[in-house]
Amino acid sequence: MWWQDAVIYQVYPRSFQDSDGDGLGDLPGVEQRLDHLAWLGVDALWLSPIYPSPMHDFGYDVSDYKGVDPVFGTLEDFDRLAAAARERGLRVLLDLVPCHTSIEHPWFREHPDWYIWADQPNNWLSAFGGSAWSRLNGRYYLHSFYPEQPDLDWRNPDVVAAMQDVLAFWIGRGAAGYRVDAIDRLLKDPELRDDPPASGPFGLPLSDEETKLALTNSRNAPDTGVALARMRDAVDDHLLVGEVYLPSAKWQPYLEHLDAAFAFELLHADWDASVLRAAIEATTRRAGAAWVLSNHDFGRLVTRFGAENARSAALMLLTLPGPAFLYQGDEIGLGDGPGGERKFDRAGRDRYRHPMQWDGSPTGGFTTGEPWLPTVEPERVNVEAQREDPRSTVSLVRDLLALRRVLADGLELVDAAPGVLAYRRGEHTVAINTTAEERPAPATGEPVLETWPGALRAGALAAHSGAITMGLSR
Ligand code: GLC
Repeated sequence: MWWQDAVIYQVYPRSFQDSDGDGLGDLPGVEQRLDHLAWLGVDALWLSPIYPSPMHDFGYDVSDYKGVDPVFGTLEDFDRLAAAARERGLRVLLDLVPCHTSIEHPWFREHPDWYIWADQPNNWLSAFGGSAWSRLNGRYYLHSFYPEQPDLDWRNPDVVAAMQDVLAFWIGRGAAGYRVDAIDRLLKDPELRDDPPASGPFGLPLSDEETKLALTNSRNAPDTGVALARMRDAVDDHLLVGEVYLPSAKWQPYLEHLDAAFAFELLHADWDASVLRAAIEATTRRAGAAWVLSNHDFGRLVTRFGAENARSAALMLLTLPGPAFLYQGDEIGLGDGPGGERKFDRAGRDRYRHPMQWDGSPTGGFTTGEPWLPTVEPERVNVEAQREDPRSTVSLVRDLLALRRVLADGLELVDAAPGVLAYRRGEHTVAINTTAEERPAPATGEPVLETWPGALRAGALAAHSGAITMGLSR
């Protein structure tokens, strides 16, 4: 399968490239920048939602699954983008948002029975805080996310049929598959029973409110597989990657129908060799991990792991076996925007969504107008300046993408000095020093790639550095 070791580049369309000067990215803009992706060497791009939306959750509140929001362009723009990507050997994945629609989707008015209603709210929580129920005309509708995102009832066959139609629609227009949004929320307890109090840790970070509950009824219902099977029917063997916000030990029912699930244990792991190792070990116990360390919901590599570790984080992300997702901007070491910012997203995620920076001009080449969110030091961090520099982050990422193609299947964790994460991919050994001091490197052959020149010297890994070596002990 093409995706087995693919690198999939996440485009957040609103922030990638603006082609018409309105300060918002769009599909013709993405098309203009495809050469960057081809040059980098990725296999595919995933477009966060492009559909018509009132944008309460920037497209994750869909009001028409078969269109393109005017902010992003038209269906014809999508067709042109898909064709231009194909010419460059790049596949295009879309974002399917199956669990909820926008409250402005005509379905909500025309088919209220496609949604989940109760006379009284239970104790289920919205992912963004507070009750997952809002009152409307004397009843309550369920919204696992914002109140503008009512949850669909996937036990209603009409919902399933409508979504199958959507899935087939974009495949017919050239999509190679989908990243499937918030899929652990697809089916809930049909009797809408309260979530019982938590009896043990959930296994992934949650809000304070959520940690008090077992979250066993509000999501991840035992019959989720039945609905997933219908999704699979609609796409044949096209790629389905699930955003399953569950620890990998609970992936099985999802992986019976989806191809891969995002490895959130690693995404949330601290930059500490033993913690990273434990997350990789847990996640690789079964096949099906899609690796991801950042996206439009969580911080970027530079901000989360520190500028000194961001290259090592990229090295790890791109040398684990299986598909890897690279978030736009991480290839140039773009950092988050100002902390705590909530100008547009009430859940405080603006800071992960600042525009891509193509050159050193004040708008980073993203727009000729006023960018919807300001750029972050474009004079210091931009594609143009880094492309010519063999020591830059973008050159490292490009080298990693090339080298990744020759890595053998499988992964073997290797014992190493405290603070060093090491694993073998056939003849290659990846070693990463997560500490601020020099550490002995696991005994291996010659370096073929280093995060910094001289990262591996005389059997030692410099502080905050990583290397790939080839061959066995020297
Ligand atoms: C997913 C998306 C996130 C969105 C949520 C609701 O977690 O990644 O951005 O807010 O689903 O659709």
